[in-house]
Amino acid sequence: MNDILVETRDLCKTYRSGSRITDVLRNIRFVIKKNEFITISGASGAGKSTLLHILGLLDDPTSGTVVFQGTDIKSFSEGKRSFLRNTAIGFIFQFFNLLPEFTALENVLLPALIEKDGNVAQKKERARSLLDSVGVGHRLTHKPSELSGGEQQRVAIARALMNRPEIILADEPTGNLDRQSGLGVIDLLKSLHSSSGQTIVMVTHNSALAGIGTRHLNMADGTLVTQ
Ligand SMILES: Nc1ncnc2c1ncn2[C@@H]1O[C@H](COP(=O)(O)OP(=O)(O)OP(=O)(O)O)[C@@H](O)[C@H]1O
Ligand SMILES: [Mg+2]
Repeated sequence: MNDILVETRDLCKTYRSGSRITDVLRNIRFVIKKNEFITISGASGAGKSTLLHILGLLDDPTSGTVVFQGTDIKSFSEGKRSFLRNTAIGFIFQFFNLLPEFTALENVLLPALIEKDGNVAQKKERARSLLDSVGVGHRLTHKPSELSGGEQQRVAIARALMNRPEIILADEPTGNLDRQSGLGVIDLLKSLHSSSGQTIVMVTHNSALAGIGTRHLNMADGTLVTQ
């Protein structure tokens, strides 16, 4: 079954503080196949971001595990996990998370510079061309504070794509954008999926966006339900 990219096995996330126990994820089992565009919606606090962070190796489950391209991530060293985070996973955050002191071009280039192999001039050219393709090629030397929200999110998308990730994980990528910029970002994600088969998992509050992918899941009470 090599079309399975990611599989979760009985993922649970529980927070404990004194006698207070919060079960955020309850036995999540699901499979992400290559080329899928999955949308996940659900009420605030349902556990969507928690799930996405665990899928992106930004957080650990309390129990259960994530199997990435056939290998249980628990068997990976921290070094291998950071390598995967940087090269196989592209994360797009609601608040863009660009580095404020760096230009748009530098923000996109950085994930590639972390990997020491390859030619820096070629990497720079790729960063430039990605920024061009997401529509901010005219803002290369602008820092995040000199960009609009929509432009910052486009830079963040270019950054997520820089190392040719297997999967894009987007947490409310339009949550902080006006309607027009949000539609632009959605069009961009849709075209990444349709033109290059990019696998995408996108969390969204917006019910109008729930149907734009190939599969829609709803999260309630820490479990996922197919819609
Ligand atoms: N450190 C913590 N201790 C206790 N509970 C926590 C902690 N961190 C998160 N939670 C709880 O986990 C639940 C899920 O949070 P999460 O951010 O995943 O929700 P979400 O579905 O992304 O919500 P939203 O749509 O508002 O972004 C929330 O109810 C939150 O209160
Ligand atoms: Mg969230």
